[in-house]
Formats: sequence, structure tokens, C-alpha cells
Amino acid sequence: MRTPLVAGNWKMNKTVAEARELVAGMGQNLKRIQGVEKVLCPPFMSLVAVANLLGGTDIGLGAQNMHWEDKGAFTGEVSPVMVKEFCQYVILGHSERRTYFGETDETVNRKVLAAQRHGLTPIVCIGETLAQYESGQTADVVRRQTLEGLKGVDAAFAPRLVIAYEPVWAIGTGKASSGENAEFVHRDVIRPALRELFGEETAQSIRILYGGSVTAANAPEFFAQPNIDGALVGGASLKAEEFVAIVQAAVK
Ligand code: PGA
Repeated sequence: MRTPLVAGNWKMNKTVAEARELVAGMGQNLKRIQGVEKVLCPPFMSLVAVANLLGGTDIGLGAQNMHWEDKGAFTGEVSPVMVKEFCQYVILGHSERRTYFGETDETVNRKVLAAQRHGLTPIVCIGETLAQYESGQTADVVRRQTLEGLKGVDAAFAPRLVIAYEPVWAIGTGKASSGENAEFVHRDVIRPALRELFGEETAQSIRILYGGSVTAANAPEFFAQPNIDGALVGGASLKAEEFVAIVQAAVK
């Protein structure tokens, strides 16, 4: 009932020329895969070029961040109005944004509400640090990030939300969570928090992705879990064949 979604988060990688090359290398094979929502999230600089390449396909395009205001004196920022000219999705609250750029549950929430206002599908990232994991705070942290980040979202928009559970200790480390551990957080922490916010039916309709060192080799373990509805892929999304294999693995 929930269509799996796999998104590639390219982070700060690829020039425009390299982005074109990467899309050319995976586009045809990605197009052939049905039954999975496919999303590419290149850096801002490459969004226009990639949008042109993806035009007329069923491959979606996402930004990796945005500001919450529509326009104005915010040097260096990109607004939801600009993002939605080319994108259908936007990654919000990635742990790298929280760690290096001071994003908080409150700023993430403002951005989520801006996405709602502009009809962009937010991919809202949450997840505990290694220290929080080791001291048994995972459930508390993830629950708080879910409730605070989604405060004020309308019941009508809520089914469009996409949550990405990304334990910070698993991102870019090659040490993915186990499928079982991720399933526990999705099923027993995030989905109950969504139920509290939006009720049972809507909570069941919201996709919860896993992210953190996902590869073609470990993807099937995650996608076999009933509450893991896809993946947010970093490093492996920069390799055409590997990313296509991960998307293929998400087909139900
Ligand atoms: P990774 O990154 O797949 O390279 O661990 C995932 C992410 O940060 O979204």
C-alpha cells in the first residue's frame, strides 16, 4: 500500500558536467524500473541541468535543503519558490545540516511548513548520534525530532510526508544499521509518533526510509522489513550501477 521510494542524496559532489554524465549513465535503467518512486537530489548548481535531462520521465528531482522564506535579504540561501520551479522534493534536516550548519528541530519545522505551503514533498531526516545511541537515547531523540519537526503539519498534507531515519553513526561510515534495528525504530518509535500527530490511517500511509551506508548488497535486508519503505542513499547514489541496483531491490 505504501509505494517504496528511493532517493539519491549526492551531497556536495559533482560539477554540472559530471552530474549530466551520472544521469546519462543511470537514466535509461532507472526509467525501466516500475513500482518504486525514484528521486535524484543533486547540488543546487546542477538542478536545472538535471531537470532538463529528466523532463518527461517518471524520475523525480529534489533539492538538498532550502530556506523557509519565499524571498528577501538572505544572502546565500535558496527559497522554496525557486526550488519548486524545478523540484518536486526537498531533503530537510539532514544530520550534516544539523551538525555543521546549526539546524535545529525548530528550523527544520519552519522548512517543513514552507514545503507544505508550496506543495513540495519534504524528505525529513531524523536520527540519533553515536553517543545518543550508545547511551540508550535513540527512542527519545527520534521521537522528539519527529514530533517537533512535523509540528503544525495539516492532516491533509501529512500523507505526502516522507521521513528518513538516518542514524548519524551509520552515515558515510560503512557501518549500516541492521535491518532489525532500523525496523524497530520505524515501527516502534517513528510510526507511533506519526500516529500521535495524525492518527492511525495517515500514520500508516507515510513512507519511512532508512538511510546510512545503504549499498546494493545490504539494501534487500532493509527492504524486507515491513516498516522500511525505501532508502535515502548517499555515497552509493554517486555510482550509476550501484544506485540502479538499490532501486531495483526496492521493487515489491
Ligand atoms: P551514506 O549517506 O549512504 O553515504 O551513508 C546517507 C545520507 O547521508 O543520506
